[in-house]
Amino acid sequence: MKKILVTGGAGFIGSNFARMLLGRRGARHVVVLDKLTYAGNLENISDLEGRTDFEFIKGDICNVKLLDGILPGTDVIYNFAAETHVDRSIMEAGGFVKTDVVGTYALLQGALKHGVRRFVQISTDEVYGSIARGRFRETDPLLPNSPYSASKAGAEMLVRSFFRTYGLPVVITRSSNNYGPYQHPEKFIPLFVTNAIEGKPLPLYGDGRNVRDWIYVEDNCRAIAIAGEKGVAGEVYNIGAGDEKPNLEIARKIVGLAGADMNLLTLVDDRPGHDRRYAVDTEKIRALGWRKKTDFDEGMRKTVEWYRNNEGWWKAVKEGRFKRYYKRMYGGRLESAAKAGSGAPRASRSGSGAGSAKAAVRAARKGRK
Ligand code: NAD
Ligand code: DAU
Repeated sequence: MKKILVTGGAGFIGSNFARMLLGRRGARHVVVLDKLTYAGNLENISDLEGRTDFEFIKGDICNVKLLDGILPGTDVIYNFAAETHVDRSIMEAGGFVKTDVVGTYALLQGALKHGVRRFVQISTDEVYGSIARGRFRETDPLLPNSPYSASKAGAEMLVRSFFRTYGLPVVITRSSNNYGPYQHPEKFIPLFVTNAIEGKPLPLYGDGRNVRDWIYVEDNCRAIAIAGEKGVAGEVYNIGAGDEKPNLEIARKIVGLAGADMNLLTLVDDRPGHDRRYAVDTEKIRALGWRKKTDFDEGMRKTVEWYRNNEGWWKAVKEGRFKRYYKRMYGGRLESAAKAGSGAPRASRSGSGAGSAKAAVRAARKGRK
């Protein structure tokens, strides 16, 4: 019987992935190991609870003893477990180094010790840093710019070394920005969707023109499974949908889909070290037979609908400690933006003119709801 370990499976992508493994991909035995940090949520996998082919274990990937108990008989590890939010890594990086680097090392050691046949490391396109034009290929150098992406790059280096030194059959995926059901509302799209529904300001960093390539989470999960099943050991696979959008365009779309007011759009002080643009070349994963199935407009409609239909889920997450986080992250910025006048950033470190950014937001605000 094939036993598959999904670490971080109570988080956003990991929960969608575990569901897909047990559904369309017909896995026989899936174990989710998750520490249930602020980002982990048992509700994300409540539909899997009670199945005989599914097991949930609460625990830390850094816990070597625990891993020694879980890993015997495991065929494949998909390592999703990580601290994942760039903004939090700027506030406090230690937890990122611990989980993303040291945790990955503990898992690699365990995989080697217990004869795991495949180790799939879920990495990110952020390890390349920012690109002004063109797309990153898997062979490009890693130039991470945030403590988060640096930790993920560090993890990748260890994964690579375990292949080169010990012959552990590893595969690394580097995906672009995911969106879809169960994403924690601290991230851009769910934060803006839920704030729009609640009639709260939508805090756009800098000039709102940073570009991300958005992929619907189910498309990424399918690509990860294909890389895990068909990928060549020791290889890296970029994953992206080619749906590159500036943040302001997405914010406007969300306001429209949520039927909210464009006046909610608010330019705030930028994220330090904010990467301007991510874009990846996906020829390699497509050569394994992967194609995206969900285009951006459809994915966004489904996502906004999911958050509308699951208000209980995100309202519970946005209580308590999230409120403290939100105040710390946005309180001062939103106050400054209010003082400076609608849609005006106090300062933009992104480079392009704050004046034209302000004009773009004003133009959006003047449009219909
Ligand atoms: P998430 O923050 O929603 O979930 C992370 C999960 O890991 C949580 O359930 C958390 O409880 C768990 N976790 C954290 N520390 C742990 C530890 N020490 N031991 C066990 N479990 C722990 O993250 P996500 O957005 O689902 O991202 C999953 C993976 O995909 C991460 O490795 C991330 O770097 C990568 N990734 C994410 C995106 C994206 O757009 N979200 C894009 C590319 C790559
Ligand atoms: O590229 C893949 C990465 O995508 C993953 O590795 C990370 O785990 C994931 O969090 C994501 O990182 P980003 O920093 O790109 O995602 P985030 O949702 O935080 O921000 C997306 C863009 O929106 C980015 O340009 C910053 C901007 N933003 C974000 C927030 C939270 C805002 O303008 N306002 C906000 O309030």
